[in-house]
Amino acid sequence: MIWFKKKIDSKGNNNSHFSNNNLKPQFTIFEKQPNLQYFDSACVTLKPKQVVSKLQQYYEEYPACSGRSAHKLAQRVNNELDLSREKIKKFLNINSKTGEIVFTKNATEAINLISYALEEYLQEKCVVITDKEHNSNYLPWLRLQERGNVRVIVIKCEKYAQIEFNELEEVLKENNVGLVSMFHASNVDGSIMDMKKVVKLSHKYNSLVLSDSCQMSGHKKIDVKELGVDFLATSVHKMYGPSGVGLLYINKSHLDIMNPFIIGGDTVNDVHETSYELLDLPNRFEAGLQDYAGMISTGAAIDFLDKNLSLIEQNTKKCLEMFFDELEEYEKDGKIEILSSKNDNCGVFTFIPKTISSKELGVILSEQNICIRTGNFCVHNWFNTYKKDFAIRFSISAINTPEDVREVCKIVKNFL
Ligand SMILES: Cc1ncc(COP(=O)(O)O)c(C=O)c1O
Repeated sequence: MIWFKKKIDSKGNNNSHFSNNNLKPQFTIFEKQPNLQYFDSACVTLKPKQVVSKLQQYYEEYPACSGRSAHKLAQRVNNELDLSREKIKKFLNINSKTGEIVFTKNATEAINLISYALEEYLQEKCVVITDKEHNSNYLPWLRLQERGNVRVIVIKCEKYAQIEFNELEEVLKENNVGLVSMFHASNVDGSIMDMKKVVKLSHKYNSLVLSDSCQMSGHKKIDVKELGVDFLATSVHKMYGPSGVGLLYINKSHLDIMNPFIIGGDTVNDVHETSYELLDLPNRFEAGLQDYAGMISTGAAIDFLDKNLSLIEQNTKKCLEMFFDELEEYEKDGKIEILSSKNDNCGVFTFIPKTISSKELGVILSEQNICIRTGNFCVHNWFNTYKKDFAIRFSISAINTPEDVREVCKIVKNFL
């Protein structure tokens, strides 16, 4: 390790300065760590000041419960929560008459909720996924298959988000498919799935669709109405919001085929000795006392995204171009294998280094104040299926600049 350190010190001093990216100053973390190079937003984004103050405000000014007490603190929680939920729905273009947002702990819980809720409906039916799903959109379906009469069909997706739509149609035609559950953007390489096409085809054969939009929601506008999905899951911590909050969109027309997931306080209208009457959406899926600070500050994250989305998109495009400009030639030399695509990419540059292990490179970069992700990114099946070595993932967000990219690439190049 000492050798590596020396190499960096002599060649690639990491003297990054405060960039001219006008979003960076909105993130307190850079006041104390101005040299931090954070490229792990596909895992968790950093938090802008407005989100942190909203979280703090809840604990300092109205740390109460929603929906139970009538006092003024509880009323404020109700109002702030309603406001936050409305902001989310507006941002995702969800019509309250036809759809609802349920708060969960994260996207994993949201997908598990759907797998549990639909278990009865899916008996004797198939669930279609790709071989490139995050474990969170893979394991819940495998478990359903293990438990009963649900069959999982896995569609191939070797490169980017390129599934064979003919193969999908064939599968839908030949089998009784109850649900198609696919990634909206890949956390392996950032590639974007044509979700509208997936929905159109699936609905043609009466299958419901769940979109795992984790990697999309912090980067591109999602229009639920236009997509036509039945369910959509995402994590707020990838959208500049707090940790511990997920979002699940449910099309209301499916409520009668969904069993409640966790029940108890706040989920029922009335209870008698041997029976109970559930509340409507969203309450029936939000049991017990919730993370109100997180749910409310999600509204502040939505404000940030809503205001800055086009800037984030432009910035992402420029940073991606810079990654390719800097490192593409190393692929030609056989020193790396680039997994990401130049186009239709929501901000991920992933490559497999051939001259050093990804883990080792990750440690070296961390010592240089550069945060990235190494490994298989919880997409074990894809890495196993295509026999890929562990990779290095740089994920771009509001706070990265092309100059940052050039600077980190300079360091990376020392080890290729
Ligand atoms: C595509 C995708 N799906 C699901 C998840 C799971 O999200 P969480 O861990 O927030 O539940 C992730 C997280 O990285 C992801 O990238």
